[in-house]
Amino acid sequence: MKLLEKIQLGSLALKNRMVMSAMTRSRADQNGIVGDLTVQYYTQRVSAGLIFTEAIRISEEATGSPLTPGIYTSDQIGAWKKVTQSVHDHGGLIIAQLWHTGRVGHSIDRNGKLPLAPSALPIQGMQHFTSQGIKDYETPLEITIDEIRQTIKDYGQAAKNAIEAGFDGVELHAANGYLPSQFLAESANQRTDEYGGSIPNKARFVLEVMQELISAVGGDRVGIKISPFHPYGNMILDNPAASYTYLVEQLNKLNFAYVELMKRSPFFPSPAHYPADDEIELFGSMIQQTVIANAGYDKASGEAELEKGVAKLISFGTLFLANPDLPERFKSDAPLNEPDRATMFGGGAAGYVDYPFLL
Ligand SMILES: Cc1cc2nc3c(=O)[nH]c(=O)nc-3n(C[C@H](O)[C@H](O)[C@H](O)COP(=O)(O)O)c2cc1C
Repeated sequence: MKLLEKIQLGSLALKNRMVMSAMTRSRADQNGIVGDLTVQYYTQRVSAGLIFTEAIRISEEATGSPLTPGIYTSDQIGAWKKVTQSVHDHGGLIIAQLWHTGRVGHSIDRNGKLPLAPSALPIQGMQHFTSQGIKDYETPLEITIDEIRQTIKDYGQAAKNAIEAGFDGVELHAANGYLPSQFLAESANQRTDEYGGSIPNKARFVLEVMQELISAVGGDRVGIKISPFHPYGNMILDNPAASYTYLVEQLNKLNFAYVELMKRSPFFPSPAHYPADDEIELFGSMIQQTVIANAGYDKASGEAELEKGVAKLISFGTLFLANPDLPERFKSDAPLNEPDRATMFGGGAAGYVDYPFLL
């Protein structure tokens, strides 16, 4: 089975091609510090060839949702050290996913401050989970050029902090409607300066952040997650194929390890003007870096995707959430535990560290 074959990814030697994708679990404390349950949760999943952490806030300003972890204070970094140490002691590899939520946030969980975004355009047709319940999205503030420069520096510092915390690398979360992807979408970016207007201008932020990450920690420890046709977070692009083709062409000029390419989900239908192409075929075949395919894969479809040859690894989200020993289950064709949606975000041990292993 290809999924269980070894592979080299940048400087990392992976024992198999099954990656655990990033999943927010909202179990940090009020100060964004992860605890012993988080150490246990990631350690339980070391049979993955590589683990991506849940999205981690690069700064206080990057905050969108309650109880999500950060990597900008010494206490946060110290807490992550316990996670990376334990994962490494048990033979695993773990990369930190770096997160700025942009307009996907609420002032309730931002000390009363409105979120910053490319333009003052609120998310339509969705609501936000806050510490005071579900709320409508607010109109964000347009991020200034100085704030953009500071944000790019914050990404670089967060990447250095991640390496200090013992992570094996960093992944830029440029998927799912958060700040980097907001810059690419006309539904969130109507700027008239060098970060808006033309496709190259709208791609500038993502490319500058990637350059910052590469210079901060070295390209072989850097990757990016993108979701070109996934409209989650009200990401509507006029011409998503053209925008992401340009982005991929420019990313190809940079020296880094991988692109995690997330396909659209059947639960979030694309706007009518979007192309029907399969994202792995369309963009994956253009990408120079190693491609990790994501979204909706199981054993059979993951194996079939690897057989096609474009993607070299598959990342699994919910299947790893519910099956800490997923590679072993694939190997022995064992039944899978079902994920419990009620305990995905927030809470304690239940639905976090109590999914059973095979006996
Ligand atoms: C509970 C939960 C939290 C998630 N949080 C994140 C996240 O923090 N960062 C991210 O890039 N994707 C996040 N995702 C998306 C997953 O990484 C993945 O892309 C998605 O679940 C599709 O893969 P799957 O079909 O294998 O589950 C989350 C998904 C779930 C179910």
